[in-house]
Amino acid sequence: MTQAVSGAAANEIKAKQIARDFRTDTITTPVDEIFKVMAEASRGDDVYGEDQATNELQERIAKLAGKEAAMFAVSGTMTNQLAIRAHLTQPPHSIILDARSHVHLYEAGGVAFHSQATSHAVPPKNGHHLTLEEVIDNAVFGEDIHSAPTKLVALENTLSGMVFPQEEVVRISDAMRSEGIIMHCDGARMWEVVAKTGTSLEELCAPFDTVSLCMSKGLGAPIGSVLVGPKKFIERCKWFRKCFGGGIRQSGGLAAAANYCLDHHLPLLAGTHELAAYLARNLADLGVHLMLPVETNMLWIDPKSIGFPIHELAARAKTRGVTLGSHRVVVHFQITKQAVDDLIEVVKEMKEEFKDAPKMAIDEEQNQRFARGTYAGNIQPPIARLGTAYGKNQ
Ligand SMILES: Cc1ncc(COP(=O)(O)O)c(C=O)c1O
Repeated sequence: MTQAVSGAAANEIKAKQIARDFRTDTITTPVDEIFKVMAEASRGDDVYGEDQATNELQERIAKLAGKEAAMFAVSGTMTNQLAIRAHLTQPPHSIILDARSHVHLYEAGGVAFHSQATSHAVPPKNGHHLTLEEVIDNAVFGEDIHSAPTKLVALENTLSGMVFPQEEVVRISDAMRSEGIIMHCDGARMWEVVAKTGTSLEELCAPFDTVSLCMSKGLGAPIGSVLVGPKKFIERCKWFRKCFGGGIRQSGGLAAAANYCLDHHLPLLAGTHELAAYLARNLADLGVHLMLPVETNMLWIDPKSIGFPIHELAARAKTRGVTLGSHRVVVHFQITKQAVDDLIEVVKEMKEEFKDAPKMAIDEEQNQRFARGTYAGNIQPPIARLGTAYGKNQ
């Protein structure tokens, strides 16, 4: 019988695994310093607004984002959904978003459930970001009784690791706001944009009425997301947060952890971008197809271009203690250079083995569908999971 490992030894093993785990950036392990900071944090009740660390974190992030107020909540899903719910007051109404966006695909249908809104989910023609022209094409202006008027546009930055060009955000925002349409941003990874472009958080948030900023993705906090926006609006969101059962009582430790991550992990993100670019260069040199541009901490790869599908690469990588989730490869701040080099080595080795195998066709359209439908742990393309009748297309 194997003895279960616990305590410090288990944590050490976990940290070593995570240093070689490319599935996502939400799986980073909290470092010991985080627990020290948590132990010393204030212990007030945040539902009463009486926790010092939570108030300080909210004030700090509101200031950085150039907004009046901020609200700490448990997750990015919650801050997105609370914002959209609090913005949309009276159906019929609709929102516009990118067809690949988290709000549309991965929040369990929350927009329909909580806000009773129709979603116009638009696939950007340029494969990168929505343009003003596409937003206008899909907007419902006026009050024709057959339609659900557009009340909100939700953008995501970064999306699949790609940085939304700020000029286009501003164009969309100027035009939409002039029509009285609200701008919300899922900025779960906006910290990546700050690190990549050097643009201030304030400038990035300026075109939006509200922005959701995750502390638990690239920044590596164990939990938490912060919604920023106008003071009155944030008060209303706190009301909905209560109604959703999302008020946290003694949240000081969690807020202090998030605060620590802002201080200590934000400066590490530029390094993750360099490591991701290094990995991308090496894989591209080996002939691996890059499905999307690599702009921050994510790669989307298809090794069929050198003869084998992604799940075979993932299976082989696993034997070297390297974990891949899907076509998406995420370089978080705890990934080591050694892990990246080991992954490159596995690809090199397989390329050699498969050099005489028949060339596999890259189905770009299917890849784009998969890129939209992927999530951590989903290793099989959806079509393969449906069985052999569809599997023929692989
Ligand atoms: C872009 C984006 N937005 C929002 C979320 C939701 O965050 P949470 O998992 O904290 O609900 C995620 C989660 O991965 C995300 O990737």
